[in-house]
Amino acid sequence: MKKQVIALLTAAMLAGAMAGCGSGGADATTAAADTTAAETTTAGDTTAADTKAEAEDEAETTAAAAGGEGKVLVMATNAEFPPYEYHDGGDIVGIDVEVAEAIAGKLGMTLEVEDIAFDSIIPELESGKADIGVAGMTVNEDRLKNVDFTDPYTTASQVIIVKEDSEIAGPDDLKGKYIGVQLGTTGDIYASDYEADGSTIERYNKGFEAVQAMQQGKIDAVVIDQEPAKVFVSQNEGIKILDEALTVEEYAIAVKKGNTELLDQVNGALAELKESGELQAIIDKYISAE
Ligand code: ARG
Repeated sequence: MKKQVIALLTAAMLAGAMAGCGSGGADATTAAADTTAAETTTAGDTTAADTKAEAEDEAETTAAAAGGEGKVLVMATNAEFPPYEYHDGGDIVGIDVEVAEAIAGKLGMTLEVEDIAFDSIIPELESGKADIGVAGMTVNEDRLKNVDFTDPYTTASQVIIVKEDSEIAGPDDLKGKYIGVQLGTTGDIYASDYEADGSTIERYNKGFEAVQAMQQGKIDAVVIDQEPAKVFVSQNEGIKILDEALTVEEYAIAVKKGNTELLDQVNGALAELKESGELQAIIDKYISAE
């Protein structure tokens, strides 16, 4: 298959471009999703605009061969969500990245991955800075007011992670407890209902930070999507996932509201990937069946 060129844009560079300054660099890092994004950049100190222009130049040649439009498809994500998107050395990898690459390939476009805070993804689509949001993003009513979603590409659920010796055995026991979530996620929305029961919600920029806080005894439980939960539990001693799933959710790709042309294109590509078994093969590569 054709190799896609992935240009990694850091949130810092992006912030620089948004602020309209010539060099998105050190002084823009306060707006970055996190500092590791800046550390892992491969694009040096060029601005987001420069990088996009370069990627577009490159895309013209690659996509011309594929008979495509030669455009860059900018994917906004938050690479703190294994196995869907995460950092592997200097690369951003995972199910969503591979699915997006396959879609871009079908559209004759070149994928560019932009790693930003999870709650910045929808604004990024609204402003037109990114084309697709692919981030294990759950379709919900609230988000549908601001973006359009493709057909779902997988299902998911929220689960509770606790320490192995925790007295919390199910959702009811979350009442009055300290619950950690990733800011702006459906886990955040779910857990926030418990505030009425005297629970305190601690919101972190990364799901993994919530797990660490629990390890340090700062919070009692973490509510997060099942597959990342499995990864975090496998990487850490002394914690477990409770059996009872809290929600049933569907992940889909978000596009700017009203961009039906792109929505239809992505849906078409997604349908082909489902049909051919390619989508399932990508998922199976990262998630082993129990
Ligand atoms: N599925 C959840 C949601 O849509 C969590 C997604 C978090 N994704 C990420 N890449 N950090 O809110």
